[in-house]
Amino acid sequence: MKSPLIAPSLLAADFANLQRDVELVNRSQADWLHFDVMDGRFVPNISFGIPLAEAVTRHLTKPLDVHLMIVQPEKYLKAFADAGASHLHVHWEACPNLHRTIQQIKELGCKAGVALNPHTPVSLLEDILGEVDIVLLMSVNPGFGGQKFIEHTYEKVRKLRAMSDSVLIEIDGGINLENAPRLLEAGADVLVAGNFVFSAANPEAVIAALKNLK
Ligand code: DX5
Ligand code: ZN
Repeated sequence: MKSPLIAPSLLAADFANLQRDVELVNRSQADWLHFDVMDGRFVPNISFGIPLAEAVTRHLTKPLDVHLMIVQPEKYLKAFADAGASHLHVHWEACPNLHRTIQQIKELGCKAGVALNPHTPVSLLEDILGEVDIVLLMSVNPGFGGQKFIEHTYEKVRKLRAMSDSVLIEIDGGINLENAPRLLEAGADVLVAGNFVFSAANPEAVIAALKNLK
């Protein structure tokens, strides 16, 4: 089994010490920094947006993995790309013109990701999967960090892996050292971890432990 890509989630960082936590991610074995944008409409919570992405990318030395939990994400793609996003994930549930939205992301020079809520079947990606770089499977209901991992996710990973050998499968929500090996075995490539990393006494060691799972 190849080692996973690890994307700590900034949502669980200390917002009063963001530069410190971004530098911790730079030093660590993390591959990307996950950046959760919430609008209070697509999800019942509000997090942060474009000015914070600009501030973070001034210090970050790794790709910024932007997860847009917002309605009408197509309106803000360029702003996030200009702010330094490397990957832009839009939600399947928020995009009536998903094919067009994916093309827009690619034209901006970013990797295109499609995120699925826990109740959205992976089979709905059948006719778009060839256009997509990353599928972000939500393993909790989007909107909050620190929630319990939904066990049905393993089955979704297996089904999606059977649909495509090449798409990157990223899992988001409730990741820890118990579920991570099972997710990798099912075919996942990228693990997002918020509270499991930033609530730890030694976040860098937790990142290393996830990265070096075999
Ligand atoms: C939830 C977010 C997640 C969150 C994960 O809506 O999309 O990225 O930060 O946090 P943990 O790992 O604490 O579940
Ligand atoms: Zn996320």
